[in-house]
Amino acid sequence: MTTVQARTRMESLRNEILEHDRLYYVEARPRISDRDYDKLIDELRDLEAQFPDLITSDSPTQRVAGEPTKLFPPAEHHVPMLSLANTYSTDEVAAFAKRVHDALEHEPSEGYTCELKFDGVAMSLRYANGRLIRGATRGDGVTGDDVTANVRTIKSIPLKIVSDSKSAQSEFEVRGEVFMDIKGFQRLNEQREAMGEPPFANARNSTAGTLKTLDPREVVKRPLRFMAYQLLFHDIEFEEDSSLNTHSKRLDLLREFGFPVSKETMVVKDVKEIMDFVMYWQEKRDTLPFEIDGVVIKVNSSDEWVRMGAVAKSPRWAIAFKFETKQAKTRLLGITLQVGRMGTITPVAELEPVGLTGITIRRATLHNADEIDRKDFRIGDMVIIERGGEVIPKVVGVDIAQRHDDSKPFHFPHKCPECASELIRPPDEVSWYCENAECPAQIIGRITHFAARGAMDIAGLGDQSVAQFAEAGLLHSIADVYDLPSKRAELIELPRMGEKKADNLIAGIEASKQRPVSRFLFGLGIRHVGTSVAKLLIDEFGSIDAIAEASEEAIDEVPSIGPEIAASIFAYFRLRRNQDLLHRLRQLGLPFKGEKKPRVLGGAPAALGGFFAGKTFVLTGTLDAMTRDEAKEKIESLGGKVSGSVSKKTNFVVAGAEVGSKLDKANELGVKVLNEEAFLKELTA
Ligand code: IVH
Repeated sequence: MTTVQARTRMESLRNEILEHDRLYYVEARPRISDRDYDKLIDELRDLEAQFPDLITSDSPTQRVAGEPTKLFPPAEHHVPMLSLANTYSTDEVAAFAKRVHDALEHEPSEGYTCELKFDGVAMSLRYANGRLIRGATRGDGVTGDDVTANVRTIKSIPLKIVSDSKSAQSEFEVRGEVFMDIKGFQRLNEQREAMGEPPFANARNSTAGTLKTLDPREVVKRPLRFMAYQLLFHDIEFEEDSSLNTHSKRLDLLREFGFPVSKETMVVKDVKEIMDFVMYWQEKRDTLPFEIDGVVIKVNSSDEWVRMGAVAKSPRWAIAFKFETKQAKTRLLGITLQVGRMGTITPVAELEPVGLTGITIRRATLHNADEIDRKDFRIGDMVIIERGGEVIPKVVGVDIAQRHDDSKPFHFPHKCPECASELIRPPDEVSWYCENAECPAQIIGRITHFAARGAMDIAGLGDQSVAQFAEAGLLHSIADVYDLPSKRAELIELPRMGEKKADNLIAGIEASKQRPVSRFLFGLGIRHVGTSVAKLLIDEFGSIDAIAEASEEAIDEVPSIGPEIAASIFAYFRLRRNQDLLHRLRQLGLPFKGEKKPRVLGGAPAALGGFFAGKTFVLTGTLDAMTRDEAKEKIESLGGKVSGSVSKKTNFVVAGAEVGSKLDKANELGVKVLNEEAFLKELTA
């Protein structure tokens, strides 16, 4: 094939695939089978491999092209991204309509649009010459994070606009919401739990977390969706085009451009019709495949937006009507304590079963002992439970009026419910812990984690079997897993076991010795060492022995690993108990060696340049101009890192008033000190 032929074929493949993406992800009516789709992708990939110079950034193969970055560059918003004033009642909506009327001196000429308020993360997408050039989060409304590489992985976001409209080639910005639908979110959490990773509390947090993930190859695995709700033209010619002077016309154009736009949008004329829409969706929200937290009402004429303007942080021409969070009342039957694999104690409310948002709730979290004290939850009380998009319902209040006279305050037990050892509570923590490493609940938790997908992935060794084997005296520690093959005779005698199951289990255990060392390391269950930290550690040190011998400082120096994680890893390898465990696992033939890999340089901080880029700062004392959190945010947004303690790696200590020992430490180590004035000068330089 000649270059010219390849170019033509590649162009047509790209267009064809992007069209199928749109049909599948935006319109939800695919025209070809997955198999035929994959064939097109394969053909394009092959051609791109042969003719790498012809790869274009809008190629569907390039949705995941990014290497992990270290930081998201700041992204300025030409037009600030405002938020919306919230309302909760008909009266407040009527007051909004009156303000609109007063400002315009007449009713809005094109009525109002009512839209769903998607519960996700606001996103700004910029296009030029029909191509996606930037995706940015809202940030503080003026400056957000440039998350283009992550946004490109979202299949419902067009990389290229196919439209005859002249405006499609002009510079424009689409704003909308990135979110996860309920099913996608549930599946994601199931996968996480299977991998021993903590589940996300709700779809919104999980979306926000995903967008801030540094590796687009991870992001592409997450079920993110996009829904467009605003179109802004850079060019005054289009911005003032009379055929685009209402919000509803712009939404139509967005559809034509290939963006997903909600079908449930309506143009209405007055407060009554607004409230009909609100009430309808308040009632029907559970029938939607995604979470909404209200309705957004906008003056429809965009000419009138300009006349009305904005106050503080929100426009005058739009409001949100927020739904109440979903609550139910039921009886608190008891409080049980759950023991996690790290010994953390979580109080759980045992409830009289009650229906809420389509599921029956029997248990809910009570957070911690302080929360129980503060709210004075008592067994027998009628309590209020809530599920605001969260998977795990929580107990948020109590109806004191319904309390029985003889009820007694709950006393948080000071003994572990599983092993009866004394619970402890570290001074600055809210949680109680069972410190007994031999606690059966912890042993079962540790072994289950070790065998889980993502770690050693041993089929047939889930929590129920682990509990069964532990009870039968066959399992006390992770290492005992590898003794199970020699205990076949005992295994097959166990209830629900049999020869076939036992043999499969044994084969699975043997096979697990071939897992990469990073998964073995993750399986050890060291606090703060999830899958990605485990990989980073192996890439950096090459083997478990090298990590075990590394100093705390050396671990802390690994990019993306902070002092808290470093301290936890260092402490793990100092414990005699863990050393013995590792010794045994080594003799059993588990993998201890991997491969060192050169660090992936994100490049972002250096590329940003400037005083703060790539430097480490420690903040001490109080600043007049801002809080410590604000200072931290500023430094980080400029590519710097903020650490909690002064070390040789610290480039600068920023000292405000009433400084403490950190300043002494800085002087001792010869670390440069910036006073507030000097710091502010650098910030504004
Ligand atoms: S319009 C100036 N429309 O709600 C108007 N926002 O509280 C800007 N949101 O930051 C927003 N669904 O993240 C608009 N249909 C919708 C929306 C919506 C969800 C979010 C958006 C915004 C927040 C404001």
